[in-house]
Amino acid sequence: MKKLSDLIPKNHSPTLPKNPASVRWTTASRCEADVSGNIQDFDEIYRRFIVSAHQQVPQFVVDEMNKPIIQKLLAYFSANYSSCQTLNVDPKKGLLLMGPVGCGKTTLMKLCWDFFNKPFRIMASRKISQQFAQEGYPALFRYGSQSYRIKHLGYGPIVYYDQPIAYCLDDVGVEPFAKHFGNDCNVIAEVLLDRYEEFASRGLITHLTTNLDTQAFTQRYHQRVRSRLREMCNLIAFPTEIPDRRK
Ligand SMILES: Nc1ncnc2c1ncn2[C@@H]1O[C@H](COP(=O)(O)OP(=O)(O)OP(=O)(O)O)[C@@H](O)[C@H]1O
Ligand SMILES: [Mg+2]
Repeated sequence: MKKLSDLIPKNHSPTLPKNPASVRWTTASRCEADVSGNIQDFDEIYRRFIVSAHQQVPQFVVDEMNKPIIQKLLAYFSANYSSCQTLNVDPKKGLLLMGPVGCGKTTLMKLCWDFFNKPFRIMASRKISQQFAQEGYPALFRYGSQSYRIKHLGYGPIVYYDQPIAYCLDDVGVEPFAKHFGNDCNVIAEVLLDRYEEFASRGLITHLTTNLDTQAFTQRYHQRVRSRLREMCNLIAFPTEIPDRRK
């Protein structure tokens, strides 16, 4: 019978993927292939998205206020090179959606999540804060430095850190400051600082939605986080006069 150690490849070392850029671009191009097949035409992607949006949110309105935003999101997630260039979107960064209450930020991210076949995970910031209060720092690592799919071979302790997990942190800014055994923590600031390290070294993508404007955001998370977010995310701001779509 073979020994367990014989089953492990001799030159195996459980290292991280060497070329983060390739992982990121694989994800982006898979989205495009899944949704549009051979269709490269951006207008067709737009048309299909609106049909799919109406199927899920029958009262979905497209007007002059959200149309440019929808176009940017579609250019980004389809990684359509020329549209990204025209609309000034960098597909190697994440997205920071800023806008007033009820303008449709979460809805648009959920529609993209569905239409582009789940290219990221959506997590409410409030929940991360609650998890920190319950579990402490391991909860933060899950969304920060350990935000990678883990592959276990089924024997021995070998673990592959496989693909990075892109998260959409939803409703950033409304989460409470959390305490765990007396340790105060600005939870989302910590997660973002961790994710920045991973973005810089391996291209980990982070999306955010928030009601805060740039000034309020900087006050809440400090200049250090704001500055890093500028590098990590494409800022997409809804017009301030956009209506609250909640009935
Ligand atoms: N384009 C739209 N047309 C019509 N209704 C919409 C549209 N976008 C969103 N809605 C509806 O408006 C409501 C609020 O949307 P959503 O939760 O996405 O807003 P939000 O910007 O995330 O709000 P908040 O800042 O409070 O988190 C939902 O009920 C949603 O179905
Ligand atoms: Mg929301």
